[in-house]
Amino acid sequence: MTDTPLLKVSGVSKFYGSRIGCKDVSFDLWPGEVLAIVGESGSGKTTLLNCLSTRLMPTTGSVEYRMRDGNFRDLYHMSEAERRFLMRTDWGFVHQNPADGLRMTVSAGANVGERLMAVGDRHYGKIRETASDWLTRVEIGTDRIDDQPRAFSGGMRQRLQIARNLVTGPRLVFMDEPTGGLDVSVQARLLDLVRGLVNDLGLSAIVVTHDLAVARLLSHRMMVMKDGHVIEHGLTDRVLDDPREPYTQLLVSSILQV
Ligand SMILES: Nc1ncnc2c1ncn2[C@@H]1O[C@H](COP(=O)(O)OP(=O)(O)OP(=O)(O)O)[C@@H](O)[C@H]1O
Ligand SMILES: [Mg+2]
Repeated sequence: MTDTPLLKVSGVSKFYGSRIGCKDVSFDLWPGEVLAIVGESGSGKTTLLNCLSTRLMPTTGSVEYRMRDGNFRDLYHMSEAERRFLMRTDWGFVHQNPADGLRMTVSAGANVGERLMAVGDRHYGKIRETASDWLTRVEIGTDRIDDQPRAFSGGMRQRLQIARNLVTGPRLVFMDEPTGGLDVSVQARLLDLVRGLVNDLGLSAIVVTHDLAVARLLSHRMMVMKDGHVIEHGLTDRVLDDPREPYTQLLVSSILQV
């Protein structure tokens, strides 16, 4: 980790009409750090994640991102083209439903290769080789490279989505309930895989989950949301082992866990 944040989030609020999506959220994210956003259904996790990743414009607040040249840029004052470029190169976004993050009717190899082409790779043989490498890294047999994701199981689709996102060497990955729709045993393996990749690649990540076990396994720090507000924020082990807020204590004692 360096001594400069990757992301500086300041006073981000999103209202849907008069309804609060999220309110006055501020934090810094450091290089190599994994932050979990937890809270019950409707607490504002997805709203916040979408604001951070500019998929949604907040009502107020700012998010500054440190570009590769070291300069901070305000994400909400970038052009659409610049934002799209960031999304293709520096960032990944792993959706809960893999179908939202994959092209279901092109091959697994093309799903991974497409991201490489988007950053300027043109050499077919090299693209295919890298795609095949990445399939192996996410434990998909290279004999499946020409299969379409619709022929894959839910867990395989999710692993493919992860390969597609990581192949370009992003610096920051957003994940919304990455293990949400999967069986418990499939979840555990996927989490191990994600943890290994995040460690190996030194990525920063922001992971939304309502599952505290996921937060425990993946994150260094966590924020607990309730009714759109961040009510507790700290090192993951501290928050889970010694929660300060009564609501977090309830969450941890699993009374509110779904
Ligand atoms: N497009 C929208 N229009 C109006 N209200 C919305 C919209 N999206 C979310 N909300 C409201 O914003 C609040 C936060 O919703 P959000 O989807 O961010 O919660 P969440 O923590 O991700 O929940 P879940 O765990 O169920 O995914 C809720 O009250 C929700 O009803
Ligand atoms: Mg959500």
